[in-house]
Amino acid sequence: SKQANLEAKRIVGIAAAGEVEDGMAVGLGTGSTANYAIIRIGERIREEEIAVVGVPTSYQSAIRARAAGIRVADLADYPELDLTIDGADQVDAAFNVIKGGGAAHTREKCVADASTRILIVVDVTKVADRLHMPVPVEVVPYAATGVARHVGRLGGDAVIREGVKKDGPVITDNGNFILDCAFGTIEDPENLETSLNTIPGVLTSGLFTEYAEKMTVMVGGDGSYRIL
Ligand code: A5P
Repeated sequence: SKQANLEAKRIVGIAAAGEVEDGMAVGLGTGSTANYAIIRIGERIREEEIAVVGVPTSYQSAIRARAAGIRVADLADYPELDLTIDGADQVDAAFNVIKGGGAAHTREKCVADASTRILIVVDVTKVADRLHMPVPVEVVPYAATGVARHVGRLGGDAVIREGVKKDGPVITDNGNFILDCAFGTIEDPENLETSLNTIPGVLTSGLFTEYAEKMTVMVGGDGSYRIL
């Protein structure tokens, strides 16, 4: 149920916040699960008097971090991060990840890339044998139609994401569009990420296949969590 999912997200978000240590620069992911971690990091800063700097991945996480009492900085100020805590939309057993359900994956990928360690926090519904959900791809608006045609040649079906509370395309924090690109079951995520990345007009694909060796996936469910 929705309630059980939220509880799983809360448990795993709080557990991930426990990995933050005094003096760390921490990448702050976007979405409801990462938000639970952000709130808990803020509490720990007050309770334990630890010094933590947060590098947000979106306007949302910046707003949440400030509200939680976390000192916020730009990635340019902390080009090397100790840890990033972020949610995801789908994860497989080889630690390939789909992100961008909240359109934040470009900055999330920059922060993940800059981090020594990545904690991915998900509820159990997001773990899959093979990735199969549509891949969010951030594109320069000028190129959206051209990118969609390329995606078609790669065997996918691209739809420009539209807003729920805004008519017309979703505009990302970077001023771009999102193409949700359905490929069915993704046989070779690494290869698909490379193919998407080379299309002119693509800024970032929501496929993360390069970070398995520094990634820990924490899966919440049934009142606790486990490491994938
Ligand atoms: C943001 O664009 C995504 O990458 C999020 O990390 C993802 O959508 C997770 O969101 P929830 O934690 O709210 O499910």
